[in-house]
Amino acid sequence: MASQETIKRGTWGSKIAFILAAAGSAIGLGNIWRFPTMVSQNGGAVFVLVYILAVVLIGFTVMLTELTLGRHTQKNPVGAIGYIKPRTPWKIIGYLGVITGVCILSFYSVVAGWAVGYMVKTATGAFRGEVTSQLTDKIFTEFTSNPLQVLVLLFIIIGLTAFIISKGVKGGIERWTKVLMPLLFVLIIFLAIKALTLPGAEKGIAFYLKPDFSKLNGTVILFALGQAFFSLSLGMGTMITYGSYISKSDNLVSSAGWVTFSDTIIALLAGLIIFPTLAFSGQPGNIGGFGLVFKIFPIILSQIPGGYIFGILFFALLSVAALTSTISLLEVPVAYLVDERNWSRKKAALAVGLFSFVLGIPSALSFEGMKIFTKMDFLGKLNFIFGNISLAVGALLICVFVGYVWGAKKAIQEIFSGNPKFKLRPLWVFSLKFLSPIAVIFILIFIKKITG
Ligand code: PHE
Repeated sequence: MASQETIKRGTWGSKIAFILAAAGSAIGLGNIWRFPTMVSQNGGAVFVLVYILAVVLIGFTVMLTELTLGRHTQKNPVGAIGYIKPRTPWKIIGYLGVITGVCILSFYSVVAGWAVGYMVKTATGAFRGEVTSQLTDKIFTEFTSNPLQVLVLLFIIIGLTAFIISKGVKGGIERWTKVLMPLLFVLIIFLAIKALTLPGAEKGIAFYLKPDFSKLNGTVILFALGQAFFSLSLGMGTMITYGSYISKSDNLVSSAGWVTFSDTIIALLAGLIIFPTLAFSGQPGNIGGFGLVFKIFPIILSQIPGGYIFGILFFALLSVAALTSTISLLEVPVAYLVDERNWSRKKAALAVGLFSFVLGIPSALSFEGMKIFTKMDFLGKLNFIFGNISLAVGALLICVFVGYVWGAKKAIQEIFSGNPKFKLRPLWVFSLKFLSPIAVIFILIFIKKITG
């Protein structure tokens, strides 16, 4: 019966198609833009270390948990919870996810718009000749201070996302990821190799890979954990929704493993590009704020033969990687409106898209030179509240819900379908019921101390 249901609902063409689509959601600006920014602001290598621990011990657990819940219920986050515990306050997990999706989409699309803008900038020759950090700094400031430009780009990203979503799962998501994600991976490896051979790279490598434990504190842990959830698209039901399209015969554990692994590798490689290049350009570790990546990539690209072409390609692929993530962000609220409120896909995609665009305006205009929203750091605040806190709370609630309310035993039954052995079972149960929730609660309790 389940398979009939899945066919009606639309399934992924194959297991690999699912992995690529889920990896497409996970891999995006979170890896290439947000991760290096976080590393640079939170003590370098020590952040990287905590981040890896967070991914392995907690991120993977939550990933498997969300996929399992999604495949079992075949529903969006609100519907999934309602299916297991109808008419209970647990539905709040789903609503929180829907709201978080819209809010992240709003500021995320601003940065995705920058990537598109930088593709055009590179193509029109802004980074020809000698590319210094002074030049890239100036270009970034000018770029983000042009209100019309950033708003048009924001509109393009959200419009494109809404268009793809309105066309449905298969045609929409699968097509993009199959070829382009592997291509991005190859280009990033290539750039990392080049960056490591730049003069002065050692300093950057040391900042990135040699932990200074005196820099370890609650803020580092909070941001590393939040970054793990953000980068893996966890805590708001994206992976519940994507899991709902997986077939019963697929192995959820290895799928979760592949998505987690590929996402983490891309983030780590992005750091291997950024920090050596930063050192090469004569800058200390923690500069740049949200512009860090946009200031640094043009420098490394200018150092390779054919940098002009590779530059266009890089920003094009970054835009696509961002787009496969915005698609997954919009998919959560849209799947909710379609499944639970009987809206048409078109209407839902249009309405939520429009709303996110309006919400994204202050973030787009919160950069230097714009005067109106500059002081409010809108993008930074949304990024912190929804990108860190909301996702962490969501992940906590999902763990508690699956671990205790639905029950780990029932979840395990679901995992058995497609993986009858499930060797990681004891570790997963321990992390689901104890380690992950306790880690998040601990961090949330200390948050006042950290931010105040
Ligand atoms: N994981 C995506 C990225 O790293 C962002 C995202 C977060 C997507 C939450 C969906 C849900 O770019």
